[in-house]
Amino acid sequence: MRKHIVAGNWKMNLTFQEADELLDELMSELEKVELPRDEQVIVCPPFPYIEMASDYANDSYFMVGAQNVSDKEEGAYTGEVSAKMLESCEIDYCIVGHSERRAYYHETDALVAAKVNQLLAHNLKPIVCVGEVLKEREANKQFDVVKTQVEQGLFHLNAEQIQQVIIAYEPVWAIGTGKTATAEQAQEMHAHIRRLLTDKYGKEVADEISILYGGSCKPSNAKELFANPDVDGGLIGGASLKAKDFMGIITAF
Ligand code: 13P
Repeated sequence: MRKHIVAGNWKMNLTFQEADELLDELMSELEKVELPRDEQVIVCPPFPYIEMASDYANDSYFMVGAQNVSDKEEGAYTGEVSAKMLESCEIDYCIVGHSERRAYYHETDALVAAKVNQLLAHNLKPIVCVGEVLKEREANKQFDVVKTQVEQGLFHLNAEQIQQVIIAYEPVWAIGTGKTATAEQAQEMHAHIRRLLTDKYGKEVADEISILYGGSCKPSNAKELFANPDVDGGLIGGASLKAKDFMGIITAF
C-alpha cells in the first residue's frame, strides 16, 4: 500500500548555520517519537545544504530531496544541477514543477516531463507539483487545469515508472497565503487525480501512488487534511522551517 509522506520544502530560506540548527533539532525531535512504518519524512533543503542534510539523514529517520533539477544529462549548462549529480550524492527525491518555478521561471509541462525523465533515469523519485491559480478556481476550471498538468507531465510514463512518482496537489492560491484548501476541496481534487491515474494505469497502480497536499498546511489543520482517504500526506513550505511545527505535521497521522 502507498506510503504516507510529509515533505518539507525549505524553498530559498535559511543560512548554513540556521539550516544546521534546524536539522539538528529535527533529528532530536524525531528520536522522541515512534512513527508508523508506512510513514516517510523528507527534507528538501537548498542545494548548498544538501550534503549536510544527507549526513544528518544517515543518523536519523528522514530522507533528503532536492528542490529542482536540470532537464539535461550533463554539459555546458552553467548554474544547473543534474539528476546524475544528485544520484551521486545519494539523494532520493526531487521536487519538480513547483508553481513558483512554473510562474517565475516559465517551466512548462513539457519541461516538467523532461525533468521527470532525468530523475527516473537516475533512480530518484520525482515529487511532481500540480495545482490551479485562483482565477482558474474562480472560473471552476481547476479539474481541467490539473488534468492537463498530470497528463502532460506524467502520462508518457509506463506503469512501472509512474509508481516511482509522488504527486503533490498545491492550489497556488493556498501557498504561503495562510489560506488552506478545505479538507473537502483537497479530497475532491486528490480523488480526481487518482481517478485520472486509475483510468490510465488501472486501480492497482493508482492505489500505490502517494498524493500529497500542499498550501498553508500547519499542525492545526494537518490532521483534518490527512484524515481524507486520498490525501496521503503533505508538502510543507513555511511550517517546515520550524522543527516543532514540522513535527506537529509529521505526527498528525
Ligand atoms: P506553504 O506551506 O508555505 O504554503 O508552502 C507550500 C509549498 O509551496 C510547498 O511546496
